[in-house]
Amino acid sequence: MANIGSYESKLNDFSWQIAEKELDYKPGDIINIGEYCTDRICRMGKKDKLALIWKEHSGDIKKYTFDQMRVHANTIAHYLSGLGLQNGDRICLFMDKIPELYFGFLGILKMGGVAQPLFSAFGPESLITRLEDAGTAAIITQKKHLSKVRKIVNDLPSLKNIIVVDYDGKKPLKDGETAFFMEKEEPIENYDIFPAKAETPSVLHYTSGTTGKPKGAQHVHYSLISQYISAKYVLDLNDDDIYWCTADPGWVTGTSYGIIGAWANGVTQCVLDAGFKAQSWYDFIEEHKVTVWYSAPTAIRALMKEGDEIVKEHDLSSLRHLCSVGEPLNAEAVIWSEKVFGLPFHDTFWQTETGSIVISNYPGMKVKPGSMGKPFPGITATIVDLKTHEPIETGVVGLIAIKPGWPAMFRTYWKNEKVYKSKFINGWYICGDRASIDEDGYYWFVGRDDDVINTGGHLVGPFEIESALLEHEAVAESGVIGKPDPVNMEVVKAFITLKAGFEPSDMINLEIMNFIRKKLSPLAMPQEIEFVDSLPKTRSGKIMRRVLKARETGEDIGDISTLENDL
Ligand code: PRX
Repeated sequence: MANIGSYESKLNDFSWQIAEKELDYKPGDIINIGEYCTDRICRMGKKDKLALIWKEHSGDIKKYTFDQMRVHANTIAHYLSGLGLQNGDRICLFMDKIPELYFGFLGILKMGGVAQPLFSAFGPESLITRLEDAGTAAIITQKKHLSKVRKIVNDLPSLKNIIVVDYDGKKPLKDGETAFFMEKEEPIENYDIFPAKAETPSVLHYTSGTTGKPKGAQHVHYSLISQYISAKYVLDLNDDDIYWCTADPGWVTGTSYGIIGAWANGVTQCVLDAGFKAQSWYDFIEEHKVTVWYSAPTAIRALMKEGDEIVKEHDLSSLRHLCSVGEPLNAEAVIWSEKVFGLPFHDTFWQTETGSIVISNYPGMKVKPGSMGKPFPGITATIVDLKTHEPIETGVVGLIAIKPGWPAMFRTYWKNEKVYKSKFINGWYICGDRASIDEDGYYWFVGRDDDVINTGGHLVGPFEIESALLEHEAVAESGVIGKPDPVNMEVVKAFITLKAGFEPSDMINLEIMNFIRKKLSPLAMPQEIEFVDSLPKTRSGKIMRRVLKARETGEDIGDISTLENDL
């Protein structure tokens, strides 16, 4: 029997107080996520249970019990406090998926800091935008990423501490840089956690929008309530599970469900710190007898491409429950997973802003391949009209909207209350995604309602790429769109007009791609560049990305009455 029991009956008897009670939390109590994921689990008699099984790309494996994790998180918390960092300070985690990233996250929360995880493949420009906005006080990083930090630190007056977790002593550290070795420091057995309350800030995740700079979605410790109970009901986590969440904690799935949800449930997680390769993924599942697997459609489609034979060469019989998030999970992928694993992937829908799963397929509930499923118990969702934002009838496409008030909802965009407020209309939080509901209450995703690009489950803002492109000496203007892609859902495509004196060539094409890869990240790098003589613009001079997109996909361009120039 699944943890959720029957979805229909859970809808009737659910309240968030169920989760509060299970977590021994009462309104007004201290609720520190770092404590809940470590000390509390140890107190429950699981101190010698494995919390983390970690495999490095070289093949080395390290294992940590809940008690070891607790002490490592304490040691990091103590070290950060010792540097003079205070509660409320934004502390960035800029690392590959190494144990220090996971325990550092919990350590920051334990000392009352605000954890700001950033994807380690980010280049200096992506980094500075987010650190500057957040006024980040410290960054915890690895030797291999230090040069990117050094490039920008002088422009970041708030960034006082750069902590290197694997310093080898070869080149001298500079002012403000310190070496910290989690496993060699004096272990801190007992640490007085920061007495965080429900509304104390916890995590700041940056997410890209259509316009402007990326925005920091601010979460609070009370998010634990949603993350704990949704991990239990949707991921169906049990005490004897070996759980693998493939997401990187630089993105929200990697923290809400790759750290908080699972460990608050006292479940053993495994992490593979290596890029995607079907062989190593299947080996990993077989080797560690993974039972619950949370991944993303791009990875699933990439596995599909590798075929069925490689699956048969592995014993994957430990798997019992599969979930997916981040992009539309196409029906073929669900049908394929049923065929090869004997289990369907359960699609889950949510966002950085929602902090936890809001629409999902549940164990025990019929899966309609291609549908995102139904609202989580305790979540009131609907579809509202694209213009009036009033709830609309079954079957009609509109915007996904959620009644505010669930525990993991973001509390603001960092220093951007105006944009935060603009997301709430007629008493609904508007997700910015188009979908419809069928006669059985299942939600069907249609597409985003803005220009944000979803590549492999990662959101990339076209504005950030266009701004970076302008810094290249040859680029006069650019328009960036998501081009449909069979595996990655979308890839970045840039339309560029060149400055006088520059001619389109393979060389310049490659140079611009590399320029963006290094400056921003491999995700933001245009996979395709088209040099054009002019770009479609409104009379006020704004580049019309939707015209570029329609031209690319052959779709109807729609109303172009505001277009200034001919196409
Ligand atoms: O467009 C939706 C898409 O990813 C967006 C949220 O991205 P992010 O904030 O980075 O968080 C990703 C992981 C929670 C959504 O607005 N998205 C997410 N899940 C799905 C999805 N699109 C279709 N189907 C999904 N299941």
